[in-house]
Order: sequence, then C-alpha cells, then structure tokens
Amino acid sequence: MNITLTTKYRDEIYDFRTSDTKQYTHCFHSYPAMMIPQVAERILSEYGKDARLLFDPYCGTGTSLVEANLKGIESIGTDINPLARLIAKVKTTVINLVDLDYYLRDFSSFILSVNLGAKISNVSIPYFKNIDYWFKKETQLSLAIIKDYIKNIDNPDIRDFFYCAFSETVRDVSLTRNSEFKLYRMKHNKIQEFNPDVLSVMVQKLVRNRNGMKEYIALKRNNSKALIYDFNTVYRIPESIIQLGSVDIVITSPPYGDSRTTVAYGQFSRLANQWLGFEEMNEVDTRSMGGGRFKEFKEFGFEMLDCALKEIAKKDNKRGYDVISFYVDYEKSINNISKVIKNGGIVAYVVGNRKVKGIQIPNDEITQEFFERNGFGHIKTIIREIPNKRMPKRNSPTNIVGLTDTTMNYEYIVVMKKDE
Ligand SMILES: C[S@@+](CC[C@H](N)C(=O)[O-])C[C@H]1O[C@@H](n2cnc3c(N)ncnc32)[C@H](O)[C@@H]1O
Repeated sequence: MNITLTTKYRDEIYDFRTSDTKQYTHCFHSYPAMMIPQVAERILSEYGKDARLLFDPYCGTGTSLVEANLKGIESIGTDINPLARLIAKVKTTVINLVDLDYYLRDFSSFILSVNLGAKISNVSIPYFKNIDYWFKKETQLSLAIIKDYIKNIDNPDIRDFFYCAFSETVRDVSLTRNSEFKLYRMKHNKIQEFNPDVLSVMVQKLVRNRNGMKEYIALKRNNSKALIYDFNTVYRIPESIIQLGSVDIVITSPPYGDSRTTVAYGQFSRLANQWLGFEEMNEVDTRSMGGGRFKEFKEFGFEMLDCALKEIAKKDNKRGYDVISFYVDYEKSINNISKVIKNGGIVAYVVGNRKVKGIQIPNDEITQEFFERNGFGHIKTIIREIPNKRMPKRNSPTNIVGLTDTTMNYEYIVVMKKDE
C-alpha cells in the first residue's frame, strides 16, 4: 500500500483563535502585518530547543526577538524602518521598574501642571510638509510639549520607552483613519468632532506599556539580548554582525510584495517618523523589497512563478515589472540569509499568498523553491487561518482605495532545514 504523506496542511492549532496576542511587551505598539507571537513561540518550542541564536531579517516590531529572548536565545534583527527598530528595541530591552516609575510619576505631575495652566516656554513644533493637514493646531502643541519632555530624559532606554508610547500617540491623535494602513484623512464631519485629549492618550499608553514591561520582566529569567540593525539582506549581511554559518534558527514574516501595492510600511509610519525626526523615513518604501523598479522581463526558472508573472505582464506590463522587482530582491535576500545559517539550522517563513490582477502568486511555494536552491530541505508548510484580521485584509490588490480582497485569509508557515 502506498501512503502519501503530505507536508503542506492546514493545522488549526496554529490559528490561536482565542489566544491573547498582546501579552507582555507585545502590546507596545501596533504595526501592519505583525506576526502572532504564538507562532514564533511554537516554532521555537518545536525546532529551537538547542538554539542559541535567532535571526529575523525583517524583524518589524520584534515579535520573534521577544519570544527568542524569553527562551534565553540571543537574537539579531534587522529592519529598514527606523520606527520598527525603535519599537523592537523597546520591546526587548529590560528596564528597571523603579527608575521607570520615577519618570512616570514625574511625567504625570508635569501633565498635571500643564493642565493647570503652567506656562511652557520654548516648545518647538517640528516643521514638515502637510503637518496642518494631519494634525489640528492644539494637537500639534500638545505633541510638541510631550516631545520636549521626552528629549530631556537622561536615561536612553527610558527615553526610548517614552518615544515608543509617543509614536503610537501621534498616530491615534492624527487626522488619519486609523483603520487603514495607508494614510487617508478622516472625513470632514469627523474632523470637526475629533478633539483628542493628547496628554491622556499618552499616559494611557505609558501605563499599558509599563504593565507589559512588568510582565516581561517576570517571565524573562535570563540575560539574553536582542541586537537590532539596519542592514538590507537583499544586498549583504555584514560578517562583523553575523558570521557565516552561525545562526541556528530564522523565524520571520517578510513583506509579501512591494510596498507600493501591498503594505506601505513607510506610509504607515510616516507621521510618527516625522515627529521623531527619523530622517531615513523617506527611503523606507523605496528600500523595501521590490522598491527599485525592474524594467525588463525576467524568468526565475520556476514554472509556477514564471507562469504567474507572464499572465500578470499580459494584463499590465508595468505591474508585471513591479512584481518581478520584488521577486528579484526576495531571491537575493534568501541567498544571503541561507549563508549565515548553520548546517542543520532551521528557517520558518510566515508568508501570505497574494493575487495581482486576479492571478494568484504562491509565495509559500516560491519561498520553498528559493531555499531548496540554497541546499535546504522542506520539512512542512502549515496553513493557518488569520482569525482577527491582523494581516492586511484591507490590502487593495486592485489599488483602488476601499476595494478589498480576501486573498489574505490564510497564511503559510514554511519550515525548512539546511542540509547537514
Ligand atoms: C511583515 S513585517 C514584519 C512584522 C514583524 N514580524 C512583527 O511582528 O512586527 C515586514 C517588515 O519588513 C521590513 N522590510 C521590508 N523590506 C525590507 C528589507 N529589504 N530589509 C529589511 N526589512 C525590510 C518592513 O519595514 C517591515 O517592518
């Protein structure tokens, strides 16, 4: 009798339908397409028992770095978005709660004095294009007062902790429609009614994050750390940071397409980045995978991908080039990442399949193929349902605002092992 064992299957255990995805420091800051911490935790429990070093090449807000550190595994992450790096740093850096509470008390008495009418002098509102379009004047003043306070905190880790809460405050009190990943302004009638209490919003975030930090400290009984960088694996991985063959496990969720047509991480973060004065923020979407435009047709020697690309190009040549640009970068990145993984090391890529011009692109199969070309064997692909719309169901594959598609209802966890 022939038994066929399938290595790609739906596993409801990985849906984590009732799990709290905002435990400990995972509650610190929202971000598009965040990984579910439980996925990272389960993969680590299954494949990372002896791991000493985890690498996340698209670490975003550091979900897998946090989970690795909780298990005593050292971690390295990289992301081209300065806001993501700030959040990842704050989520993984243990802060002395006594010191933190001192600043929290000081900040709340500062707020009280502002509310009681204390004169705050020399507050400078940053100038950036369209600031008046995105923030009411009163909101700008309150944000500037907070930013000024934070600037004077002398402990750098506590200062970043405050900046992280400030960044989410900026987004919440701006005139953006917060349900959208891209920047869309609220409707006129909503704007008139929208008068957020900026100082209270900031305090709420600080208190929530302080409690998250307390939980994190209680769980973390080891000294492991996360190091967070800004290198782009499409081009290189500096050997001074990660040596060849040194990584035990990679757990990551890469972008699933270029940021113009999928998740615009740069756009999502733009207002916070502008308030924080991160200068590189303009480059986030162009440095993102697929950000440089490829101008000729290319075949990858993988039928599934090549057929999809041809079909897309037939319908819309320019769009076809955008998609090709993404896979050119994706393959280069996988080639570089493969080199730093130990023989016998594991990669787990959480990817979403996407539709462009109505044509499905199987990112899971493509990921598997690209790693196989680098000497990896496929262990399994788990199909998980995305229960709570954390992935961009509002992804607009037609590029028409508000027209959504359901291509992102499932995601795929592709697990591969480097040959011994
Ligand atoms: C799906 S998100 C990762 C989310 C992360 N797992 C989390 O839970 O927060 C993908 C990330 O890849 C980053 N990114 C895009 N292109 C990149 C590149 N070439 N190198 C490094 N990071 C990149 C984006 O800025 C984004 O933060």
